[in-house]
Amino acid sequence: MRAIHIVTTRLSSCCFRPVLLLDLVSCSPRHSPIPKRFISAAAKADGSRSGSIVAPPVIKDVEKIDVNPPKGTRDFPPDDMRLRNWLFNHFKEVSRLFGYEEIDFPVLETEALFIRKAGEEIRDQLYCFEDRGNRRVALRPELTPSLARLVIQKGKSVSLPLKWFAVGQCWRYERMTRGRRREHYQWNMDIIGVPEVTAEAELISSIVTFFKRVGITASDVGFKVSSRKVLQELLIKYGVPEDLFGRVCIIIDKIEKIPIDEIKKELGFTGISEDDIEQLLKVLSVKSLDDLEDTLGGAGEAIADLRNLFSLAEKFGYSEWIQFDASVVRGLAYYTGIVFEGFDRKGKLRAICGGGRYDRLLSTYGGDDIPACGFGFGDAVIVELLKENGLLPELRQEVENIVCALDKDLQGAAATVATALRDKGQTVDLVLESKPLKWVFKRASRVNARRLVLVGKTEWEDGLVSVKVLSSGEQFQVKVNELE
Ligand code: HAM
Repeated sequence: MRAIHIVTTRLSSCCFRPVLLLDLVSCSPRHSPIPKRFISAAAKADGSRSGSIVAPPVIKDVEKIDVNPPKGTRDFPPDDMRLRNWLFNHFKEVSRLFGYEEIDFPVLETEALFIRKAGEEIRDQLYCFEDRGNRRVALRPELTPSLARLVIQKGKSVSLPLKWFAVGQCWRYERMTRGRRREHYQWNMDIIGVPEVTAEAELISSIVTFFKRVGITASDVGFKVSSRKVLQELLIKYGVPEDLFGRVCIIIDKIEKIPIDEIKKELGFTGISEDDIEQLLKVLSVKSLDDLEDTLGGAGEAIADLRNLFSLAEKFGYSEWIQFDASVVRGLAYYTGIVFEGFDRKGKLRAICGGGRYDRLLSTYGGDDIPACGFGFGDAVIVELLKENGLLPELRQEVENIVCALDKDLQGAAATVATALRDKGQTVDLVLESKPLKWVFKRASRVNARRLVLVGKTEWEDGLVSVKVLSSGEQFQVKVNELE
């Protein structure tokens, strides 16, 4: 529901005026229950607010701010930032290992990019609003639409196939559960221009490579794999029009989230008969390709793709990580072929990652279709999994040198020493105030410095500094230009 608060604000003209603050979550216009006289000149008839006229209110009466970040979002103080960098470095190194190039897009996109007809959950979770130029914009809930936009924009100026990766922040107004939040970072790898299953097979291989690097094994994690073509073949058999395909997938994706009767009811609305719904649900519980072939009554394209993927998995060396599961359809409308999801085998967490083939996304934005597939891998669930398995790395702040002047007058000399070391690529924490040696040693231990470089009067007159290696206690004097 759209929340409306009236806040009394003191504007620059020194008068008090009520201003509407609209909750940005709901995208659908609603009638405002607020009497007209309280609606500022900037608020429009449909309840939306024109940012071009009214600046954000200046609330002078509030003395203390809430020091917590908005619900569902995170700060990254140094300890958390070290972990985030460690994780992102693995994402980036794995991507480069597979020959991918890094890209990025704006966090803010036009709202239209994310509005699809299929009734996806992601649409209801959109952070969307009108900007100061009265344009409908949204914080991206995923990276794939921006990628499609960029590919269309680049057109023929790029040669296919493209292998691109990105690590970016996404926003979804989600119900918060373990590992699910209102903002998260997603690592995406996508291949544009390869119609063959080799692309999906290699994408899964890159995720397996990541897992192995961080110590996660096939007994901790697996991939459930299926193909949207399984459903498509069934729906064609049941006479369901093609344009309802995305919608049916979204309904089926909710199987574990809402009661089965609700699922049947929603499927009924798409025109599938009761008998066919029963048959469809039976097929979705199939867990082997042979059984699927029996149920579908022959090997179609879906089975061929899946068999190909399983055979490639063997060659890439990750067979033990993947299993067929017809119930995996994924909650985004645009997938057209193989779909997959990474799950923890203990079943405690939500999907670790997910992706698939989306050969027809570009034409939904008015571009020419190009075969494409990729995956998204969030930063939150994986951290929960690493914690659960005792695999979180111990990451400490580390600095090679602490440089300190022993005399206030020598602070300039200490700065010169710090610069000389930094020019050689060494990390230096320069003590910027006059502090007793005891304090300096304490700090050195807190920042895990490798050595202490002391600038004292007599040595400095001879062009020397004192060095103490903190791990061994070894102490010596050395010329500044010979410091290594
Ligand atoms: P998705 O399954 O919606 O797919 O999200 C991918 C991954 O992002 C999830 O498996 C999870 O790790 C993470 N994730 C999603 N929502 C949240 C949340 N609220 N909090 C924490 N983590 C979250 C996509 O977004 C597709 N665009 C992926 C893709 C790329 N398909 C092809 N290319």
